[in-house]
Amino acid sequence: MKMRLDTDQLMRQTGLLLVSLFLLFSQSALFAQPQVTARNGMVTSSSQLASDIGVRILQQGGNAVDAAVAVGYALAVTHPSAGNIGGGGFMLLRLNDGTTTSIDYREKAPLGASKTMYQDDEGNVMTQLSRVGAMASGVPGTVAGLSLALDTYGTMSLAQVMQPAIALARDGFRVSERLARSLNSRREYLSRDPMTKMMYLKDEPWQAGELMTLPQLANTLELISREGPEAFYQGVIADNIVETMGMFDGLITREDLQEYQPVERDVIHGTYHEYDIYSMPPPSSGGIAVTSILGILEPFPIARWGHNSAKTVHFKTEAERHVYADRNYFLGDPDFVQMPVNVLTSDDYYDYLREQIGPAATPSSQVEHISWDTVDSLRAWLPEHEETTHYSVIDRAGNAVANTYTLNGSYGAGYSVVGSGFLMNNEMDDFSAKPGVPNMYGLIGAEANSIAPGKRMLSSMTPTIMAKDGETVLITGSPGGSTIITTVAQVIMNLVDHEMTIRDAVASPRVHSQWLPDKLWLEPGAIEPIDQVFLSNVGHVLEIRGSIGEANSIYIDPESNLKYSGADVKRGGTVAGY
Ligand code: DON
Repeated sequence: MKMRLDTDQLMRQTGLLLVSLFLLFSQSALFAQPQVTARNGMVTSSSQLASDIGVRILQQGGNAVDAAVAVGYALAVTHPSAGNIGGGGFMLLRLNDGTTTSIDYREKAPLGASKTMYQDDEGNVMTQLSRVGAMASGVPGTVAGLSLALDTYGTMSLAQVMQPAIALARDGFRVSERLARSLNSRREYLSRDPMTKMMYLKDEPWQAGELMTLPQLANTLELISREGPEAFYQGVIADNIVETMGMFDGLITREDLQEYQPVERDVIHGTYHEYDIYSMPPPSSGGIAVTSILGILEPFPIARWGHNSAKTVHFKTEAERHVYADRNYFLGDPDFVQMPVNVLTSDDYYDYLREQIGPAATPSSQVEHISWDTVDSLRAWLPEHEETTHYSVIDRAGNAVANTYTLNGSYGAGYSVVGSGFLMNNEMDDFSAKPGVPNMYGLIGAEANSIAPGKRMLSSMTPTIMAKDGETVLITGSPGGSTIITTVAQVIMNLVDHEMTIRDAVASPRVHSQWLPDKLWLEPGAIEPIDQVFLSNVGHVLEIRGSIGEANSIYIDPESNLKYSGADVKRGGTVAGY
């Protein structure tokens, strides 16, 4: 075992120790939220108004997909930092007959994009360009994706499921405590663009309970509900998007919008102990990464080691180091890159990586992605095609939807479409602007995720559904950029290994690591002080960080068929059920 004790480290440990001791005493409050159960259907999401709308659709006889589309549009009104029509995302479905599928409505790089578009003449990355303003936006996918889901798996009309969102935008809604705080904290960012400022800010800071109306957005939603996605991709809204691009030097053209198509894709399937895990395939890295982390950890006695014990956290962190190194190197848009997906989700691969893990932390600088030779030796592989918000829906008949969608950063690129009243994404930052240069989540990319016209940027969004003996038992997912993957892994481990209730599995403090930067982040109170000392001593670099993710989940008891809320209440989640 490697011992590294220098003064800096001692100081850090002492600091962590004090913070942890303080939090140990306040921690019981974390678990104080009540457990909500429902007999029929349930929705957990980031907004109470949106959760209520989802349940109302279920009560009117809609299925989980109808409700999910209604919630998607409602969040575009009530949760503007991430709910959107100017962004994109992923929807994972498991129907009550066991069919699993996914809808990829990820944004695409505009056709005018190029590999080095965010680099200056000297090759330096100009990070602001991929994060703020029109240059940062990919071609939005939400409107097309939600319609594909509804047309293929829903039962209601677009007008029916959009009506509640239109009413909220038109008649106004009461600003929640959370929304008021969020808007007030982003005043400067939201003031950059006059349209956005007019929509979301007033002279005084927002107070919870005040009325917000969004008339322009109401008109836009009404147009979509009447004319379908064509209004967005070819009609007046497309005109407005293109006009906005002209004003702010953005790249999205009419052709980009016209060509945008969401894609239905086969899901990633893995197992963890006696559970089946279904999750999102590329262009999200989420499904592969989550099933790999769990696959590596499965043989370890995690249950005996305990939740967030030094041993559990050490082995999990080591697994994550390798998984993120491979994620960053191999994964990208399946329409552009050939990926060894069957190797990265195979037992041989998990065995191989498990053998690299020892009792001391391996510095990330010494961890590299596996080589193509290793890929070949593991199994002859066949080329395959294969601020964010997450919500979960289950209907009475047992159809389940896990949906994660986003503008990327909170309030996206910070500007809105003229005349149409919605914010645009800054998803281009999820590409690798240059090999080795981290994006806003500290993720380092490679060739597989380089920018190309019409390509989808790699995501970490991980809508996931878990089943046992053929029955859906868990719907989960989270926002949080690169932390999404480890958040989902922890919710699953908390349920399966630590036998927590869904409420505690979601509420428990989380930890995160991602190969680079070489850090082990922990939410306050996540790891006992003594375990923190152990982890530091074996070489992990610990750092306290604020809240990680918001894993709005639902657990379905296969015996009673009761639905238990796993809304991530302490991190902002809400629930409605009936
Ligand atoms: O697709 C991704 O991985 C990111 N654009 C997700 C962004 C996110 O989760 C922001 N939320 N906190």
